[in-house]
Amino acid sequence: MKIAVIVGTRPEIIKMSPVIRELEKRGAEHYVLHTGQHYSYNMDKLFFEDLELPQPDYKLDIGENYHTQGAQTGEMIKAMEKIFMDDRPDAVLVEGDTNTVLAGAISASKLHIKVGHVEAGLRSWDRNMPEELNRIMTDHISDYLFAPTEPSMDNLLREGIDEEKIFITGNTVVDAVYQNLEIARRKSKIFEKLGLTKGDYAVITAHRQENVDDPKRLEKIVRILNCMELPAVFPMHPRTKKRLAEDGYSIENPNVKIIEPLGYLDFLLLLSEARLVLTDSGGLQEETNILHVPCFTLRENTERPETVAAGSNIVVGVEPDVVLMKVKELMGNKELEEKMRGAEVVFGGGDASKKIADNILGNR
Ligand code: UD1
Ligand code: UDP
Repeated sequence: MKIAVIVGTRPEIIKMSPVIRELEKRGAEHYVLHTGQHYSYNMDKLFFEDLELPQPDYKLDIGENYHTQGAQTGEMIKAMEKIFMDDRPDAVLVEGDTNTVLAGAISASKLHIKVGHVEAGLRSWDRNMPEELNRIMTDHISDYLFAPTEPSMDNLLREGIDEEKIFITGNTVVDAVYQNLEIARRKSKIFEKLGLTKGDYAVITAHRQENVDDPKRLEKIVRILNCMELPAVFPMHPRTKKRLAEDGYSIENPNVKIIEPLGYLDFLLLLSEARLVLTDSGGLQEETNILHVPCFTLRENTERPETVAAGSNIVVGVEPDVVLMKVKELMGNKELEEKMRGAEVVFGGGDASKKIADNILGNR
């Protein structure tokens, strides 16, 4: 059984790392194919270093020069088809909802190679998001659907996907957090570097297309940042940096440190000691639940409703008055803060990669 593990972006490298480790541990024949969707050192190589992953066996270069959805996805399909035709893996594993995921699933399924979708069944019910389209299409051409939770499995069943193909595994991000937090505590010097006091700052991230490519929503996010009273750190995604420059917005609040994207060990440690998080990231909605940190999601919906039901996450949108009021409310209400911090972890116990390997290798 030869397995191709596909990655392309920062969250895929992080969330596939426990799966790659598990395949290595079991001596399973596999290789890693990187599409190059993310290519800057601090969005890509830094994660291979932090997570001590082997270099990808195949490295494509389809990120920097392909800026539209179709060109990026199409070019990846073409390149991966060629590799799969020469190399014929028995199964291809993709993770999440990026263009890399859809392209990997299409190229493999068209060659009748089995596709395993890690993090299957998430739905925001918002088809304006490229990620939602990628999720739906990938799920419907996959042979193994590794749903992180029961609600994600229910979404798949409701869409008529055969129950036999679906396995609830938990999310591999739990494995990644548990495998790396102690290492981060030992190795990272991020507090010294940033001069922050543990427990007394916010972590902010925003990069989603629906937020930063819409000047009106971006302007609102800038207003939120410019009004933050709590010290905050914002490791800025390159997409956001580019849009801010193009739209001529600037963040002039000395409370908010804008820094380059961080490696996983620094970021995980920073996240683990934060008072609260403001984000539009999918991964952060999960990691805040796992790390017991209150999360405010700067979106109108979420494909991670389990975090909202558990109480670790509140979807607040981007209206500055609403978001700032929510932050203030949390800061002044110990009971609410404890409730958010005490929310149940809803993404499993850190053995998702083991369950995925068992299934794909036929050991279940
Ligand atoms: C992609 C995913 C998104 C995911 C995010 C994780 C799709 C449709 N979107 O969005 O779901 O949340 O990755 O971070 O697949 N850039 C760089 N260096 C890099 C990467 C990007 O400078 O290493 C800049 C480039 O200007 C690029 C832009 O960011 O054009 C957008 O990158 P892209 O990979 O197309 O989308 P993301 O916004 O990163
Ligand atoms: N992350 C990181 N450094 C940063 C920002 C985020 O290591 O500066 C990690 C974060 O811990 C999470 C993942 O990147 O595991 C989330 O990626 P991103 O927000 O880019 O994508 P999304 O999850 O929204 O698809």
